Amino acid sequence: MTVRAPAKINLVLAVGARRPDGYHELTTVFHAVALYDELQLTRTAMGGPTVEVTGEGAAEVPVDDGNLAVRAASLLAEHTGAPPAVAMTLTKGIPVAGGCAGGSADAAAALVGCDALWGTGLARAELEALAARLGSDVAFGLHGGTALGTGRGERITPVLGRGSYRWVLALGEEGLSTPAVYAELDRRRASGPVRLRSDPEQGLAALRSGDQVALGRALCNDLQPAAISLRPGLRQLLEAGNALGALGAVVSGSGPTVAFLVPDAATSAALAAALPAVPGCRAAREAVGPVSGATVVAAH
Ligand code: C5P
Repeated sequence: MTVRAPAKINLVLAVGARRPDGYHELTTVFHAVALYDELQLTRTAMGGPTVEVTGEGAAEVPVDDGNLAVRAASLLAEHTGAPPAVAMTLTKGIPVAGGCAGGSADAAAALVGCDALWGTGLARAELEALAARLGSDVAFGLHGGTALGTGRGERITPVLGRGSYRWVLALGEEGLSTPAVYAELDRRRASGPVRLRSDPEQGLAALRSGDQVALGRALCNDLQPAAISLRPGLRQLLEAGNALGALGAVVSGSGPTVAFLVPDAATSAALAAALPAVPGCRAAREAVGPVSGATVVAAH
């Protein structure tokens, strides 16, 4: 069984106050783009779930219980009573610690893959409930497309949108820790009231009308100033993409990946060629969105 799961970017990310449980109340517009992790699953005779990791940044991905695909397989087994017998091989295409929900994509892939492999046949709502227990972005990893996320990001409502968009993703040389970026936001806010910079309604209106210029203007992320303060080079990267003709740019999630919305194939190619020369940018990837969430692509 092979499952493919896409990266996400946050077109709009409005971060509210820190809750008593440590999470922040969010309103975000998630968008799944065609940059994928692939998970191959093989049934084993016995033993718990195992994972081997290959591909970009594989050395930084844990292979024990810290791996979200392993945790997802264990949780599904526990929930259904199925023996947790699966060997997984994960091929990373989504940047590790990049703000693109790579680990969450892997968890979503493992839920979908193990459910199919073990024949547990869970209803969509049950899979979504398990997803929410694994991490804030896992439910969106199942859903894909473009969707509004609320709560800590785990409550998903589909968004009506038109058309498809071209993105160039600039990958950072080093990852950023999500808790560290949220902590920096809290530190910056400690001296005053919580002010939201991001307005999801503008982004939703642009998506409804399929207006890419308006969407470019609506891109906004409350975590961006915190990410820039921890990684000052991001400012230069954002400016470089805008100077090359991007319609808009935004740090994805907690960063350091930057997503540039581009109007056409020529601008996309120009950004993809030029951005890796900017200090701090390891590579650039062209990707369209929206695309489907975690999907079985082959059953062997
Ligand atoms: O849910 P997940 O494990 O992906 O979250 C990783 C970290 O990101 C949390 O431990 C927390 O520090 C931060 N976070 C947050 N508010 C959210 C989502 C994540 O503070 N809504």
